[in-house]
Amino acid sequence: MSKALPTVVDPHSLVGSEMERAERLIFEACASQVAAVSLAAAHVMRAGGKRLRPLVLLLCAKACGCDEADRTARLGAAVELVHTATLVHDDVVDEADRRRGQYAVNTFFGNEASVLMGDYLVCCGLRMISDEPDPRLMRSICDVIVSMCEAEVLQITFRGDLDNTFENYLKVIRNKTARLFSFTAMAGGMLAGASQPVLESLADFGMNLGLAFQIVDDILDLTGDEQALGKPIAADLREGKFTYPILHAIGESCGEQRLYLASLLGDPSVLDEDGLDSVIEIVRGSGGFQAAYECASQYAHKASAVLLALPESPAREALFTVVSQVIERRF
Ligand code: IPE
Ligand code: IPE
Ligand code: MG
Ligand code: MG
Repeated sequence: MSKALPTVVDPHSLVGSEMERAERLIFEACASQVAAVSLAAAHVMRAGGKRLRPLVLLLCAKACGCDEADRTARLGAAVELVHTATLVHDDVVDEADRRRGQYAVNTFFGNEASVLMGDYLVCCGLRMISDEPDPRLMRSICDVIVSMCEAEVLQITFRGDLDNTFENYLKVIRNKTARLFSFTAMAGGMLAGASQPVLESLADFGMNLGLAFQIVDDILDLTGDEQALGKPIAADLREGKFTYPILHAIGESCGEQRLYLASLLGDPSVLDEDGLDSVIEIVRGSGGFQAAYECASQYAHKASAVLLALPESPAREALFTVVSQVIERRF
């Protein structure tokens, strides 16, 4: 007798109507009387993006039995606005010209307007969160944004440092990326009125998912397809940001090769295509990509293991799928 195959739950279709609602709310929330502001906001929001954070929030809320579709959609929209604001600022800091397959806001509107647009979008998101009666939500998102800013500054101080450590790297990605995922997952549980232990599990889930997500992002920066990613590749290297695969290669290199690698990484602003290929070759030879994937997979496993604390449900299954997609993603 053949066994029934486990059903694979499509994360997006499970919360399709809430996602649509969140999408509408995003545009409502960032519409402005000032035409240029509406234009810039619509430009970056319409370009799409994966909408991973609202998806995680809606699924976590559902997995905890929340049936308040309007509130979850509002909070999902708010988190996406905060996230997008950080991308707008990030592209100014990183001098990146493309985002989500289109010109970055700074390419179109310049750095001055982009800094202000980032502030505008983050406040549009915070304004929505401030409507929530539970004060923990506003406090937590502010803590997350404070950590993100600190991490981005810390990252700048580590620029070009060949002796930077994995510990420092993990600290940066925990604060710049994973904590927002952690908030996102926990916020879903809060809307469902989940107990403190469940909220802690959700926070842990989001943190591990976020760490895996950023490590994969850092691999894709070197191995990904620019068209699929919709943003410039090798951007980290050109800014002297030494991420997991590079740190691994530095750690594994010695003698002549270390000197050669140091010379390539030493002046990233002049890293041409051949130089870039050589770096990638050295990283590959050192097992840097494999080690980074293994590390990301370990965090992904931890994320999935934590989810077992939630009762079995289609939403929990969909969250398992999200974890796998984060590791397998190519964009
Ligand atoms: C990009 O995030 C910034 C990182 C934390 C790596 P996403 O890859 O989720 O960006 P969008 O929203 O899909 O464009
Ligand atoms: C994530 O780091 C930035 C934020 C958390 C805002 P990256 O610099 O790697 O993000 P991308 O690659 O530009 O999307
Ligand atoms: Mg960047
Ligand atoms: Mg990146």
